[in-house]
Amino acid sequence: FLLGIDVGTSGCKSILVDEEGSVIAKSVAEYPLYTPYPGWAEQEPEDWWRATVATINRLLRESQVNPKGIVGIGLSGQMHGMVPLDAEYRVLRRAILWNDQRTAPQCQEIVQAVGGEDNLLTYTNNAMLPGYTAGKILWLREHEPEVFDKTRIILNPKDYIRFRLTGQFATEVSDASGTGLFDVKNRRWSDKLLAILQISTDLLPHCFESDQVTGWVTRQAAEETGLPAGLPVVGGGGDAVIQTTGMGVTKEGILGLIIGTAGIVAMGLESFKENPQGKLQIFCNNAPGTWHAMGVTLAAGGSYQWYTQTLCEGERIRAEDTGEDVYALLEGSIMSAPPGSKGLVFLPYLSGERCPYADPAARGSFIGLTLLHTKADMTRAVMEGVTYSLYHVFEQLRELDKDMKVTAAIVSGGASRSAAWRQIIADVFQLPTRTVTGSSEGGAYGAALVAGVGCGVWTSIEEAVGFMQIESETEPNGALGDIYGEMLEIYKGLYPALRQTFT
Ligand code: XUL
Repeated sequence: FLLGIDVGTSGCKSILVDEEGSVIAKSVAEYPLYTPYPGWAEQEPEDWWRATVATINRLLRESQVNPKGIVGIGLSGQMHGMVPLDAEYRVLRRAILWNDQRTAPQCQEIVQAVGGEDNLLTYTNNAMLPGYTAGKILWLREHEPEVFDKTRIILNPKDYIRFRLTGQFATEVSDASGTGLFDVKNRRWSDKLLAILQISTDLLPHCFESDQVTGWVTRQAAEETGLPAGLPVVGGGGDAVIQTTGMGVTKEGILGLIIGTAGIVAMGLESFKENPQGKLQIFCNNAPGTWHAMGVTLAAGGSYQWYTQTLCEGERIRAEDTGEDVYALLEGSIMSAPPGSKGLVFLPYLSGERCPYADPAARGSFIGLTLLHTKADMTRAVMEGVTYSLYHVFEQLRELDKDMKVTAAIVSGGASRSAAWRQIIADVFQLPTRTVTGSSEGGAYGAALVAGVGCGVWTSIEEAVGFMQIESETEPNGALGDIYGEMLEIYKGLYPALRQTFT
């Protein structure tokens, strides 16, 4: 068996996977998120460890698996967070997380220090997003110098759990890519950028490939978790990267769409590609010599959730009365709305936008309402609008290689459970749209697969993902290609036309 652990933002998930790639047990434990000021997001690393121990304990107890049958551990985790430790390896302050917004001024400082955004791309191949670790380090140095002076090592969230499991300070290429300090092309820390920013390389852990063994479970961690001491822990990956590995999205031509609160549009790259104007996030992938490109749209499932919570009270009351599921009810209703929603377009920029427009001021809207429109048209327009935004990101990915032939989309996340939404995706993208086994487990599944590669169960990630089975396949309706082609053009014209009104 392989143990995959995902240290997420809302909780920790541990799963056991067998040598055929089947999930045989899982366990989840939640922890709090602290927002001491608006825009700040912090967590207690000790809470992650307690949750990790609790999920492993429960997994072993409930599955009745003999811990000696586990051959390796893989770690996945929320990316970009910062955990500073002192010389005695104690946590110095709460971790600052990926969704913390405090570092916009530090990001500007970094861009200025390197002489502009284009120069920054030559060091890291990525723009400097406020979520990334680099800005957090500068913030700590400026605002809490007494903490910074005591800091001996800075870890990402899952790498803190690695430290607790193995006693080793280590990271791997995919999470390191999201620090904003990593030379993604050459798969190593960017010494030049670190020198410009006067950040000592000693503050950062040694960086491995994702499938390399980084350490072994210590006797103390074995006592706490119930795992055997000496069990190998492989690198693993940042969640946004390793969950696409766990969906089998590893090669150019297969598109991955993860529709959670945010929407991730991703593709595996078999060679390094430059990031046009830094619009995408291009990170090292989990197989050596491969990369990962993605763009994130901020309110995907989040738009639909907002819509059902804010504008569908009648449906929610009806669903409560009849015992139906409100989502099933809404889904049924959109069958009466024609594709294209009679020209109604929904812009899903409810939380601003990250890609293709990095614009926190962008706002959502319904455009083109008439007396003819029904509630069903509006519901359909929300699903379509979110899908257009994913397609818009996909167009950026296609820019990476004009000859790229894309043959299928694999979807996961909440929206992938809706057959109606999968059909809209297939029709807008004009691609066969699949769901696959394991993909609903998020990063933990990819982490287990990467552990299997690192511990010799499989020879490569390609072999591991070969076990994945297609759960559903939705064929595109070719007759709708033209309608959606026109709607996409209208959609793309709206942001530039409305930008001035988003104040
Ligand atoms: C990736 C990103 C999120 C976090 C939290 O760039 O910001 O996916 O990793 O899960």
